[in-house]
Amino acid sequence: MRFDVVALFPGIVEAVVSEGVVGRACTQGKLEVHCINPRDFTEDPHRTVDDRPYGGGPGMVMQYEPLARAHEAARRASPEARTVALTPQGIPFTQALAQETAKEDGLILIAGRYEGIDERFLQQRTDAEWSVGDYVLSGGELAAAVVIDAVARLLPDVLGCAESAGQDSFSEGLLDCPHYTRPEEIDGLRVPEVLLTGDHGKIERWRRREMLGRTYRRRPDLLGRTALSAEDQALLDEYLNATSEDKNRERDN
Ligand code: ADE
Repeated sequence: MRFDVVALFPGIVEAVVSEGVVGRACTQGKLEVHCINPRDFTEDPHRTVDDRPYGGGPGMVMQYEPLARAHEAARRASPEARTVALTPQGIPFTQALAQETAKEDGLILIAGRYEGIDERFLQQRTDAEWSVGDYVLSGGELAAAVVIDAVARLLPDVLGCAESAGQDSFSEGLLDCPHYTRPEEIDGLRVPEVLLTGDHGKIERWRRREMLGRTYRRRPDLLGRTALSAEDQALLDEYLNATSEDKNRERDN
């Protein structure tokens, strides 16, 4: 898959995509990330890319023209790709969007800076706006890197079996279960006994129960979206009973 990223600070994107799993995917040719700097498409000596907002107010706004020229260059390289701008006003970028995006051959990402991007560029030249969370970053570069990372790990053969994406948080709309590694006991804390039994059926059941319970406690909004099967509901009830028993025990001691 190919990403073309229009960004004023390409170094931020390049630093993220050159490391770890994503870096390996690039080296192996499974992923290509190309950055295009709107500053390279300016014509004045100061290489201006922004100007004051009409109507007044603080900050500067990214101008249409340099962005549009950079976008044209991206389109020449990836004529079929959709264009997505990263802005805090965008729809939430979710695992489901990452999964859909991983089926595409390419994507053009526009990373904004300053107070924002001239709205006419967004209207005229983008297919969507995505946000990576309800907070404001100094620019869209980190958000673009987040999108590239989340999508890249879903591409065929990017993760080894050992790193498989199928069991990640959100892959089924649930948070992941807890994980433990050696030693069996540390600082007086033991690994849950079930994980030491070697009974794969029991272990799977325990993991599913933890996923449901954690999601219920930490992100009930995620559970609200799908009806639970009778089996999952029973596991969740078991989790809630067990954890309230723990609380009672703590209180009684
Ligand atoms: N640019 C600044 N903040 C952002 C956010 N939360 N998501 C996407 N792009 C952004």
